[in-house]
Amino acid sequence: MHDTLFLFGATGDLAQRYLFPSLLRLLGDGLLPEDFKVRALALSPHDTDAFREILRPRLQQAMPMASQDDIHSLLQRIDYRSVDLRNPESVAESVHDLVDRNCVSYLAIPPGLYISTCEGLAKGGALAAPHRLMLEKPIGSDSASAEEIISTIGQWIDEDRVFRLDHYLGKAAVQNLIALRFGNTLLEAVWNRNYIESVHILVAESEGVDGRDAYYARSGALRDMVQSHILQLLCLVAMEPPASLEADRIRDEKVKVLRALRPLDAKHAARDSVRGRYTAGTINGQPAQAYQPPEGSDVETFAGVTAHIDNWRWSGVPFHLVTGKRLAERTTRVVVTLKPVTHWLFERPHRGNATPNRITFQLQPQENIELGLMSSLAGPEWGALELHPLELELSVPTGLHRRIAYERLFLDAFNGNHALFVRDDEVRAAWAWIDSVSDAWKEAKLPLQPYPAGQWGPEEAAGFLPADADADATRGGQA
Ligand code: BG6
Repeated sequence: MHDTLFLFGATGDLAQRYLFPSLLRLLGDGLLPEDFKVRALALSPHDTDAFREILRPRLQQAMPMASQDDIHSLLQRIDYRSVDLRNPESVAESVHDLVDRNCVSYLAIPPGLYISTCEGLAKGGALAAPHRLMLEKPIGSDSASAEEIISTIGQWIDEDRVFRLDHYLGKAAVQNLIALRFGNTLLEAVWNRNYIESVHILVAESEGVDGRDAYYARSGALRDMVQSHILQLLCLVAMEPPASLEADRIRDEKVKVLRALRPLDAKHAARDSVRGRYTAGTINGQPAQAYQPPEGSDVETFAGVTAHIDNWRWSGVPFHLVTGKRLAERTTRVVVTLKPVTHWLFERPHRGNATPNRITFQLQPQENIELGLMSSLAGPEWGALELHPLELELSVPTGLHRRIAYERLFLDAFNGNHALFVRDDEVRAAWAWIDSVSDAWKEAKLPLQPYPAGQWGPEEAAGFLPADADADATRGGQA
């Protein structure tokens, strides 16, 4: 197992909120090597003691149950170096004394700094075998910049030692999509265009852009969320069964889905997509401010796109992909709506009023599965066979110990397991489709629709949302 972590971006929000706390949990559970060591790297001119004192309260806050011994033990394993990531010499200098160990470099920094940082790592000897590289999303901001990053870094390190993160893949509930699909005959039997009418993938956040203005002003919802998390969810829902769980067999199937995505064209932009930005509103009874990007940026905080997968299994089935910030609630769900029954026997309700069967996989904040059926049990006594919708809620056992996504991803990268990381061709294929959406938006001049914070997005988004959120949106109210 690799035993030395170079953590670039060590003073940033991601590192302080998620990465160091994840390491603390792994350490507490005895899952890190005996002589595990972290070199924290960032621009600020701290020394190691000062950095440890900054990190200590953050760890306590993130992991209130952690023991003081574990916190102390983690802090003792961390040393800090100030580094200028624009200067490869500075990067090389900051790592070279440790490269006789088995090192993993983790870049939790803006992608614009990936190339100069990796050049420095290569100079310092930290990208030669057996060292590994972990790269946060996004890899670039479009196809051209992603290609530049992938091919330039590829000169210094082989693909089988690169681990590109999408932290959604580290979530237990997301991995469970693979388990549910391929561990059950029931689902696979109906999992195609013959039975499925539509699929909605919704990643709604109640949080706003707060504190990440510089990044967000260049990114927006499409690049920040759809390019990565939502397309990964789409792949898991739509991919063919892999021949095995070997990393490349899964990734082969995912990339086929991405390559089968029909590019959006300007002609269909208004029909197949919507973009919005939140204005002032109310979240959980508290006033929330409007998002105001800096002058010159016209990014969206809400994106809805209907994707079409042009292959045998999914031909004609729309996949509605929706994400937004400052929405009515935080929820991630995949809703699969089935086609109506072929021949309707019942007088009540009338065929047109029957609720279609629906399978909802709720992934966050709680995990559960809902099955929407039509049944006479929920109706009056026998007499007229009258059908009513019946929601069967299949709750996933609670109280199970689930690792937060980054713990799982650290362990897999340290152990060399690629299954939950994104391969170079996936990144390329995902950006190719995202570029088509963003080009179509530009060409069609798709307007940004305002929506008050705390609602389900702009009015124009109603048709893109799954039925329950859609009903709330149409009522114009909060969930
Ligand atoms: C990140 C995005 O990748 O995912 C953020 O950059 C977003 O904008 C976050 O808030 C959502 O992650 P989670 O795990 O809270 O759903």
